[in-house]
Amino acid sequence: MKNKNILITGGNSRFAQSLKKVLYGKNIFYTTSKELDIVKIDSIENKVKKIKPITFIHMAGLSRPMNIHEKNIEESIDKNIIGTCNVVKICKKYDIKLIYISTNYVYPGKTGNYREDDSLKPINNYAWSKLGGEASVMLYKKSLILRLAMSEKPFVHDEAFKDAKSNFLYRDDVAKIIPRLLDYNGVINVGSKKTESIYNFAKKTKPNVRPVSVKKVKNFPIDSSVNIEKLENLLNKNNKIK
Ligand SMILES: NC(=O)c1ccc[n+]([C@@H]2O[C@H](COP(=O)([O-])OP(=O)(O)OC[C@H]3O[C@@H](n4cnc5c(N)ncnc54)[C@H](OP(=O)(O)O)[C@@H]3O)[C@@H](O)[C@H]2O)c1
Repeated sequence: MKNKNILITGGNSRFAQSLKKVLYGKNIFYTTSKELDIVKIDSIENKVKKIKPITFIHMAGLSRPMNIHEKNIEESIDKNIIGTCNVVKICKKYDIKLIYISTNYVYPGKTGNYREDDSLKPINNYAWSKLGGEASVMLYKKSLILRLAMSEKPFVHDEAFKDAKSNFLYRDDVAKIIPRLLDYNGVINVGSKKTESIYNFAKKTKPNVRPVSVKKVKNFPIDSSVNIEKLENLLNKNNKIK
């Protein structure tokens, strides 16, 4: 029988908690940083030799809080850029399909409705570090980059921007889409059908959230919505995207 093993980094991440509900079984191997440290290339190779995956989903890295990427650029570089480069090198060496979890924040975040081949200009260091990761994945053609416009349910913050917008999908809804994309290569945006203010989006799951202006903070995209036509076509229209 053909080996269909899938190796996944970031098995303890918030997103993994959603993915584990839809992608699980004897062929699916979620790893923690103790089991597979992306900063150490030998650690990745050892795990790959053991599991012999045909697909590698890479979502480990440094994510939140976002301003940690401004304060501690060393960790951001090590985990999101060098860590991803290490993963790419091992996938290349063992001819493994790589799926890299990226973010909609790699786009300029000004006019919104960004398509996959639009110019990229990250608005903050977190997004630069994710784009640094993307750059190495781009060199390896047996790969898929997913740019997620993703948020949690309920909304986590006490305040939400009334003058910034996006088309976020909830983590559980993004997770349901991932298994259907495993065979594609290239870049795919993942988001919801509805672009709205972050405040309106937040109110749905946190009614007492307070509206604030995005002018209160530095480096936040005023419209980070992504165009999802490509995703919809691939999923064949009538799909689960809301
Ligand atoms: N959060 C969002 O809304 C959002 C939106 C778009 C895209 N993304 C992307 O989705 C992915 C997951 O995000 P998240 O917020 O769910 O992440 P998270 O909860 O912050 O978890 C990150 C995970 O990375 C792992 N990690 C850190 N350093 C590592 C290393 N050296 N080797 C191996 N693993 C390491 C940690 O593993 P251990 O716990 O085992 O140490 C941790 O579980 C990230 O790539 C992020 O950029 C997130």
